[in-house]
Amino acid sequence: MPKKTSIFFCSQCGNEFAKWSGQCPACKEWNTLTEAEPFLRKTGKSSKTVRPAETISVQEALKKDSKLTFSTSIGELDRVLGPGLTKGAVYLLAGQPGIGKSTLLTQVCLKTQTSVFYVCSEENPAQVATRLQRLSKTIPEDIHLLDSSAVEDIAATLAKHPNSVFIVDSIQSVYSRENPTTPGSPSQVRDSASILIQAAKEHSTPLIIVGHVTKEGSIAGPKMLEHMVDVVMELSGDRQYQLRLLRTIKNRFGPTDETGIFTMGNGGLEEVTDPGKILLEGRLENSPGSALTMIMEGTRPLTVEIQALIVPTTIPIPRRIAKGISGNRLQLICAILTKPLHLPLGEKDVFVNVTGGMDIKDPGADLGVALAILSSVKNKALPVKSICFGELGLLGEIRNVAFTEKMAKEAKKLGYTSLYSPSTHHTLKSITL
Ligand code: TYD
Ligand code: MG
Repeated sequence: MPKKTSIFFCSQCGNEFAKWSGQCPACKEWNTLTEAEPFLRKTGKSSKTVRPAETISVQEALKKDSKLTFSTSIGELDRVLGPGLTKGAVYLLAGQPGIGKSTLLTQVCLKTQTSVFYVCSEENPAQVATRLQRLSKTIPEDIHLLDSSAVEDIAATLAKHPNSVFIVDSIQSVYSRENPTTPGSPSQVRDSASILIQAAKEHSTPLIIVGHVTKEGSIAGPKMLEHMVDVVMELSGDRQYQLRLLRTIKNRFGPTDETGIFTMGNGGLEEVTDPGKILLEGRLENSPGSALTMIMEGTRPLTVEIQALIVPTTIPIPRRIAKGISGNRLQLICAILTKPLHLPLGEKDVFVNVTGGMDIKDPGADLGVALAILSSVKNKALPVKSICFGELGLLGEIRNVAFTEKMAKEAKKLGYTSLYSPSTHHTLKSITL
């Protein structure tokens, strides 16, 4: 056995050091280093249990694979997962606090046809039971609530019930007894996840882990967590609105370009089949400053309204306020409108809002933002039944976006008669209002 020497963990950032110090050399926090014994791997020579690894033919592996997947019975979740839940696969469900992660997983408990073990480490079993009762009058007997936060105990339960779905809510609130740092610290998250993942793989049990997202928008805990799991999903949306989007960031079993669309209501998350209806609810037609744009959410085209309000400024540096698109993108579009179109925005405040709580990253919405601003400045509404999409170049050219054809077809199907797109207009200048 190699000689044991102590190491020191930072409970804040999870880094390891050979020596103790008052201040963590990595994250600069004070009094966060605690002593721990390092994890010692047995070397091949000293271990008596060494045996050659088993091999399996490709044909045999494929035969096993056909029985590996089953549906969650939630259509929008299955769409995102690709084939549904896969045995032995580990899923990370990330999202801001309060966005609906626990609600979605409670619904998985209620709908899936398999027995489910729900680890209540963040809330107590009574809270989870109340949520189950809120979402369904009849509660299947096959739902088991685990009142434990120690991953060693959870892994032991998993070993006893391998033909189930395991849900750990959340990875930031469980801990390994082997790790002296507090739950939620990067090293604790890493070690706990590693024990749970190993158990799930060993017993071919699907495991869903909940992970929080930090204020900066990244998944809390070490980045390594995303590499350790098979699928990373993110539930996003604006808590003030009903709309929730479930996207996959990584998927070892299916597509990463699918989006599940839900609304949060009194009965939990409801699947949305016609998102246009919610996004355009209460829209004032024929109003200056409003433009409809089409964006792609996964493989589905979505119609969203972009509103702009342009008013004279009262401050030396005019405001550029954006909600639902990036502030930098808005600055850029304002600059493009100022130069090639000579639009007098220099002494104007520009406010842009995407309705319905959508957060658009698709550059195809550029033209929609530009036309909404143009329409507000000219105080002239865009034609009724008009829709647009296209990325703007710095010279005012309208550039192609992915799925142009598909979106044009969808616009026609939805009854839009005026289309502004890269195939109908080449530059912003060629659009007259
Ligand atoms: P929750 O699933 O607890 O969020 P997370 O686990 O991501 O932190 O959901 C929290 C919010 O959802 C909370 O504000 C209450 C709301 N909610 C509903 O609107 N309807 C419902 O049926 C449920 C269960 C929750
Ligand atoms: Mg929760």
